Amino acid sequence: MSITIAIANPKGGVGKSLTTMMLADGLALSFGARILVLDADPQAGVTKALLGIDAEQELRDRRIGLGPMLQAFARGRNIRLASHRVAASDLSELQDRQNGFIDILPSNHELLGELADFERSAHRKRRRDRLDVQLSKVLRAELQNIATDYDAILIDCPAGPGVLGLTGIRLADHIVAPTSLETNAYSTLTDFLKFILEDDLGLASQVKVHPLITQYQSTNSIQREMLHHIKEGLAHLNAFPRPIPYTSALQNAAAHPGIGSLRSARQKYGNALSEVMALSKALVERIS
Ligand SMILES: Nc1ncnc2c1ncn2[C@@H]1O[C@H](COP(=O)(O)OP(=O)(O)OP(=O)(O)O)[C@@H](O)[C@H]1O
Ligand SMILES: [Mg+2]
Repeated sequence: MSITIAIANPKGGVGKSLTTMMLADGLALSFGARILVLDADPQAGVTKALLGIDAEQELRDRRIGLGPMLQAFARGRNIRLASHRVAASDLSELQDRQNGFIDILPSNHELLGELADFERSAHRKRRRDRLDVQLSKVLRAELQNIATDYDAILIDCPAGPGVLGLTGIRLADHIVAPTSLETNAYSTLTDFLKFILEDDLGLASQVKVHPLITQYQSTNSIQREMLHHIKEGLAHLNAFPRPIPYTSALQNAAAHPGIGSLRSARQKYGNALSEVMALSKALVERIS
């Protein structure tokens, strides 16, 4: 049975997609985990990073991915998630699928239009549930069918308080919440999640939140001071103790390979590979 982890923060550009990719790679590489990445973002950053931009276009043409699944559902057809997932790693170590692997339910920018189709069909059927409730029901049922194929399902949520992000949160057992350390970013995150989980979705007792500081610049004295300042709160709020540093190695890893070419983990992450391993180890310790 798999565990579902949403990587979510309504704030944009804080490292959600990079964290999703690091966790997928790290869990598969160091724990031999079987991973499904559900790309819930129309920006499709993780899809492009793990598959390459050509594959993203090809899958869009072949109508494979989360969007086509939603559209099929809107048209009253069967949507089998199993037939929309594809093998996704760009790491040569993960190609034989013996010691861990990564599959992806890909996304592309057309997901926005397909979500609108889903919404129109929900209105036509005059369902009373709100849209994120309906969408999470549909996806939960599909994920249950394939749950034994995976150890973990990682959901890369889009920024903003929209339907796709809330759906990811509804499906999750755990939320990893990447946050930058700009002024107010951390307190905004905790306020926002409190609102979403307690006041809006009422999931606070069912899902565990793990804030993760990303893009931490240790050479920046203001950032060092802010980290020091919120340290006590970090432990109290169950945050990962080790922030992800801002490094060009991680920036390079996030830049998609373009042709979907396979690299070794060392080539992909360079000297940031230890960060990837440490992050996945810390997550496993928290959820097991
Ligand atoms: N630790 C880091 N070091 C260097 N660059 C980083 C780091 N984390 C993220 N970035 C860069 O910051 C940008 C935003 O990261 P990413 O796309 O992962 O954020 P996001 O939260 O998924 O954004 P969005 O809200 O748009 O989905 C990317 O260009 C990424 O490469
Ligand atoms: Mg993203």
